[in-house]
Amino acid sequence: MRDDLKEIILTEEQIQKRIVELGCELNNLYEDKLEDLIVVCILKGALMFTADLVRQIKRQVVFDFMDVSSYGGDTESSGSVRINKDLEEDIKGKHVLIVEDIVDTGLTLKKVIEILQTREPASIKVCTLLDKPNRRTEKHIIPDFNGFEIPDKFVVGYGLDFAEKYRNLPFIGVLKPEMYE
Ligand code: IMP
Ligand code: MG
Repeated sequence: MRDDLKEIILTEEQIQKRIVELGCELNNLYEDKLEDLIVVCILKGALMFTADLVRQIKRQVVFDFMDVSSYGGDTESSGSVRINKDLEEDIKGKHVLIVEDIVDTGLTLKKVIEILQTREPASIKVCTLLDKPNRRTEKHIIPDFNGFEIPDKFVVGYGLDFAEKYRNLPFIGVLKPEMYE
């Protein structure tokens, strides 16, 4: 174990196994849908998850990226969401699968869904790797697909950062409190 981490909560093997299962669920949902499927990766946290997840999807997909921020260098949500980069694709009449790293308060996802809904897609579904349901302030925001439910701990790795670091870890762990105090 690295000396900056308190514990590993999800190993690389656990993550990869779950992604295969999620891929099956997504294939069942989308395989006979004729419209385009746009996979929207929410940068930067969902980068790793999206890359592994789309390799499990058997039908044609189009990638797009959106960058929104609700967090600064801290571990608490600022409560406001800013769009830094918008989609390039026209999603009207198409199926949209939003891929997120983690749903915490739900504010980010609520905002993204609201924006994308106005563009009249055929459908919007959300697939998140992690869900922290105990922290939800937006109670109606429930991901359609969820990799793992986790307790209220600040986690890093596999795309998730603390002050832009730790994203490249292949597993998910909890930082020692002294790392962000
Ligand atoms: P929400 O708007 O509170 O749901 O926050 C969602 C965003 O906050 C995620 O996309 C992450 O970027 C970030 N976030 C929330 N919890 C964690 C965590 O435990 N580690 C790292 N980033 C987190
Ligand atoms: Mg994020």
